[in-house]
Amino acid sequence: MTTPLPPLPPMEETLRRVKEARSLTALEALRVSLLGRKSAMAAHLRLIGRLPPKDRAARGTSLNESRQTLTEALETRKSVLTKEAREKTLVQNAADITLPVAQPPFAFGRLHPIAQAWDEMVEIFATLGFSLEEGPEIETEEHNFTALNTPEEHPARDPSDTFYFPSRKDGKGGSAPPHLLRCHTSPVQIRAMRAGAPPFRFIAPGRVYRRDSDQTHTPMFHQIEGLVIDRDCHLGHLKWVLTHFLRAFFENDAVEIRFRPHHFPFTEPSLEADMSYRREGGRIIAGGGGGGGGGGGEWMEILGCGMVHPHVLEASGLDAREWQGFAFGTGIDRLAMLKYGIPDLRQCFDANLDWLDFYGVSPLFAPSLSGGLSPKTPKGERG
Ligand code: DAH
Repeated sequence: MTTPLPPLPPMEETLRRVKEARSLTALEALRVSLLGRKSAMAAHLRLIGRLPPKDRAARGTSLNESRQTLTEALETRKSVLTKEAREKTLVQNAADITLPVAQPPFAFGRLHPIAQAWDEMVEIFATLGFSLEEGPEIETEEHNFTALNTPEEHPARDPSDTFYFPSRKDGKGGSAPPHLLRCHTSPVQIRAMRAGAPPFRFIAPGRVYRRDSDQTHTPMFHQIEGLVIDRDCHLGHLKWVLTHFLRAFFENDAVEIRFRPHHFPFTEPSLEADMSYRREGGRIIAGGGGGGGGGGGEWMEILGCGMVHPHVLEASGLDAREWQGFAFGTGIDRLAMLKYGIPDLRQCFDANLDWLDFYGVSPLFAPSLSGGLSPKTPKGERG
């Protein structure tokens, strides 16, 4: 005995229901009830096989036609509803791209204070027309020392100060001088001068490596190098550029700079520059009258500089009778610590998210001399 089949719903009415379906969900429910495994249509199709052979073809064709009509109607309605839904979301989610950027959820993550200081320095020198150069962290002795006029017996060449790689084969059965991790950014001077043509005016920020570790030293740290080469470039230019740089970086025109004679192999004369600062409740504030000025200030050594040594110019392929200029190098990390009040350099490389949350800066903050170099307000307000 077979259970009687449910009748197929009248086609005209069914098509009307499809056309009137209000949502994609309602339409899908309708599709399941009309064509799904438990639908009357499915039951009728399953029964074709049991019909007497002479009736099968006609019944099969008619059922398949109905199924085809329904499927097409459902598809048509579906594409109409899909389009309507998409248009609705577009209207609902419309964004006015001329509005300022919303804080959450974009304000996730902080920029490391060293990255921030780096960007600030690049910005300051960019406004003075300095371009950006870079060089490899794995260097040759030639670039890192020899071309920079560093004598063979100079202590910086000692493996107790500088990291050397194992010695290399020179391909001719002998051994070539080993590579090293650059201990300063000065070799970029050599590379850039050899690759280009004077005049030069660039900075080269980057990572450097030394065998050193305590509260203010880490085996890896960051330096920024500067080089200006022209026909009549002199110490007065050097002094102005560095004074401008420090005042702009610390956002304080009271910063004074003092030069002392020093020695570097790659400059002649060589100078060390001190910056004026004062202490305020345990914090070090850049600026104020320097030591001995009666302003209660002190001096702190901040960078090395000088007029580029003729040997360095010649080693880079320049005629030292025609070209001259100045160079300087300073620590990005140390200046960042001073500006952002970071007590221990080692914390900078601990990858501690709480620390980064406190000392870091919004990734949306873009330093500019006109719009503000740094977010100076305390955390929470500082963007
Ligand atoms: N390279 C020096 C250092 O590592 C810094 C320095 C001093 C760079 C004088 C210079 C310079 O370009 O002229 O400490």
